[in-house]
Amino acid sequence: TEALEVNQAGHLTIGGVDALKLAEEYGTPVIAYDVSKIKQQIADFKKAFIEAGVDYKISYASKAFSALAMYRLVADAGLGCDVVSGGELYAALKGGMSPADIEFHGNNKLPAELEMAVDSQIGCIVIDNFQEIKFLDKLLRRKHTTANVVLRVTPGIEAETHKYISTGQSNSKFGFDVQSGQAKEALASLIKNPRMNVEGIHCHIGSQIFQARGFVMAAQKMVDLLKEWRDELGFEAQVLNLGGGFGIRYTKDDQMIATEDFAKDIIAAVKERVAVHGLKLPAIWIEPGRALAGEAATTLYTVGSRKDVDGVCHFLAVDGGMGDNIRPALYQAKYEAFLAEKPHAINEQIVTVVGKYCESGDVLVRDCPLPNTKPGDILAMPATGAYGYTMASNYNRNPRPAVVFCEDGHSKLVVRRETFEDMLACEVTE
Ligand code: LLP
Repeated sequence: TEALEVNQAGHLTIGGVDALKLAEEYGTPVIAYDVSKIKQQIADFKKAFIEAGVDYKISYASKAFSALAMYRLVADAGLGCDVVSGGELYAALKGGMSPADIEFHGNNKLPAELEMAVDSQIGCIVIDNFQEIKFLDKLLRRKHTTANVVLRVTPGIEAETHKYISTGQSNSKFGFDVQSGQAKEALASLIKNPRMNVEGIHCHIGSQIFQARGFVMAAQKMVDLLKEWRDELGFEAQVLNLGGGFGIRYTKDDQMIATEDFAKDIIAAVKERVAVHGLKLPAIWIEPGRALAGEAATTLYTVGSRKDVDGVCHFLAVDGGMGDNIRPALYQAKYEAFLAEKPHAINEQIVTVVGKYCESGDVLVRDCPLPNTKPGDILAMPATGAYGYTMASNYNRNPRPAVVFCEDGHSKLVVRRETFEDMLACEVTE
């Protein structure tokens, strides 16, 4: 996490708003976004493309954080977005994304979802498998219409990341395998299909990647494929989509290259390889999710009980946990936490920050250095803007937290806290 912003009272501020005030006004747990950080990330990605003078599209991977307010922000910034379900598509449209700027991903898009995508005339459907080609073809015939498609392939590049979130290797469940020839076979069938306009190819090598190397290798491999497929199939790609996965800093140990440099290195690799093969430079698309939303938010919790053994505090419990942030439990993801009232206070203890859920695995931060705390203190956990709220659950019937957007010293509620009643909304009692 970068330098913390504090006000004159020494309290943490988020988007210029005192974190203690946020906790008081909205209650806790609350996920507070510093909107300027999202905008800065968007600007950094854009800058690299604009300076390189290439055609590009930045599609926000909305699975990272798909609130209507986020779609609105993304749409206003001129970005596209990727969706992976009917629910995300519905939200994206409600959030003001124009259909043409939406791409639809997924390894098992449901018939109803594909129909919704076709009916909404979204920008493109990312084709993942042979069944999908068949199904989409039938659908398009029935509707007497056409669709833009992009072919998703697994280029055989393994990104150095957690195995649950790495997707670019050949045994991934996503996309067409290149080595076996299936990708080429799929492309050939799409090219022949008058109802599908093949814009280009896509790969996504994984998530939370710290170095450009994996992207550069993938980019080279993808351009090599374009050359092969131009020569063999006469295919001229308009689009080369290299997916998302740009890492962020969850803790000070996370070291990665700057956002802009990720994009710069990718663009340079594509340009160079395209020149080597004498290809026409396609538009370069990327799909950052975490990199846009992740570092922008801080979750505020209220400290409750603690468990001391032999006078030493072992566990410090807060009023949220795995229901609002499953990442530590699911991926052993590391975070930092500190007291919002005095982020720079001297730490006097090392504790395990746990939640209120009935599971021993309900841990938020392991080995967290903290000053002495008392019940009622506000604990701030930064870098919780991606895959926190979207992966949240109602486990133990805990309501999902509130989400606020903060900018220039003002805050506004963008997702209200769930109520007990909300949680019963789907129950059928008669
Ligand atoms: N594009 C595709 C095709 C993807 O599958 C993903 C992520 C992205 C873009 C965006 O990746 P990002 O830039 O956000 O890393 N729940 C996990 C992450 C799963 C990501 C799945 N796909 C987590 O909390 O780390």
